Amino acid sequence: MNIMIIGGGGREHAILRAIKKNSQVETVYMLPGNGGMAEEAVCTGIGATDLDGIIAFAKENPVDYAVVAPDDPLVMGCVDRLNEIGIPCFGPRANAAIIEGSKAFSKDLMKKYQIPTAAYEIFQDLDAALNYLDTAPIPTVVKADGLALGKGVIIAMTREEAKRAVTEMMADHKFGKSGSTVVIEEFLEGPEVSVLSFTDGKVVKPMVSSMDHKRAKDNDKGLNTGGMGTVAPNPYYTDAIAAEFMETIFLPTIRAMEAEGRPFCGCLYFGLMLTKDGPKVIEYNCRFGDPETQVVLPLLESDLLTIMQATTNGTLEETEVKFSPRNACCVITASAGYPEAYQKGYPIVMTEEAKAHTYVAGAKISDGVLVTNGGRVTGTTAVADTLSEAIKEAYRLADGVKFENSYRRSDIGQRALKA
Ligand code: AMP
Ligand code: GLY
Repeated sequence: MNIMIIGGGGREHAILRAIKKNSQVETVYMLPGNGGMAEEAVCTGIGATDLDGIIAFAKENPVDYAVVAPDDPLVMGCVDRLNEIGIPCFGPRANAAIIEGSKAFSKDLMKKYQIPTAAYEIFQDLDAALNYLDTAPIPTVVKADGLALGKGVIIAMTREEAKRAVTEMMADHKFGKSGSTVVIEEFLEGPEVSVLSFTDGKVVKPMVSSMDHKRAKDNDKGLNTGGMGTVAPNPYYTDAIAAEFMETIFLPTIRAMEAEGRPFCGCLYFGLMLTKDGPKVIEYNCRFGDPETQVVLPLLESDLLTIMQATTNGTLEETEVKFSPRNACCVITASAGYPEAYQKGYPIVMTEEAKAHTYVAGAKISDGVLVTNGGRVTGTTAVADTLSEAIKEAYRLADGVKFENSYRRSDIGQRALKA
């Protein structure tokens, strides 16, 4: 079988390695892929949002199955387009990817189907939003409706800050069309849990839970990033909580999407918060999380490609989804300065041992040398019997990844250890 994976980051590298464990897989094409995976797959350089380029490539090459990993192509209808030319895909169609593509849609869905989430108001008019903020409870959370590279969520500690965020989104078009509608919602507190799940539109099978570390600096200081490291499982996510979430959140969401005529097939990511008033949904993503995938897939004992195909064929019920009871930790090595300005083009040197445990994200080959080419450069994952061993081992392995001006948090997993 020949597989095509749309995307080119650490998440896609982890998917690539898991898919290649299936002995039926011959060639894997990455669109675009990156220099760090060039020894393991055919990296085409075709951009993940270049839908015409993707379709042309799929017509010209023998592709049996496609995995669409990032949010943008999913929301743009990449799966719909590939299905039209007869290629089965892992991932939701555009009418279901909207669960991430529009926060207003997902909030209204949760309200309609009584899925617990933060109280909210939706605004399309700047003055109405500003008026509302005169009396809204503070702190408050301002969210751009559409995709905004993970930067469209502002936790405002003051009224002024909230008004500035709304003005930047709605009047200054900081996130383009994504911010012409905003959601203003209740500020929630509590431990966060990420649960990725496989679903064929009817059956939902959660993966092992995980914990992201979104802030750039130690002790959750600094700016929000795409994620500086992850651990799995998440110690806050007990069996009792898992059973409760299945009844109050996971199944109701899958059924709601089906009832709306938008069956969701692929990976549905639940961003959850355990508040003192019970569990609430913070967000849905229509895809694997990054870097959650770099700890979740190394713990998957069943065959990933078989599960993916089951989500496409509607046979997830009878397909095994089994995870190891061990622990995983992923440490991101980033370019110093990320998520703000940073230098790139520095040669990356990895020991053979580190390389085998490292997923490459922001890198390219330049004059035959692998060099840095992004904010998050690599993710190094270790699996061990205990969380503390996994953390220690992930840092030991990450020390085998070297480039100038590199930066990593030193406390990935510490919050989980104290839980
Ligand atoms: P999102 O892009 O929706 O995942 O939001 C990014 C991060 O903002 C989340 O992981 C939370 O840490 C935080 N966040 C989002 N919504 C809320 C909320 N209603 N209350 C508190 N924190 C939130
Ligand atoms: N790590 C969070 C995300 O993938 O959205």
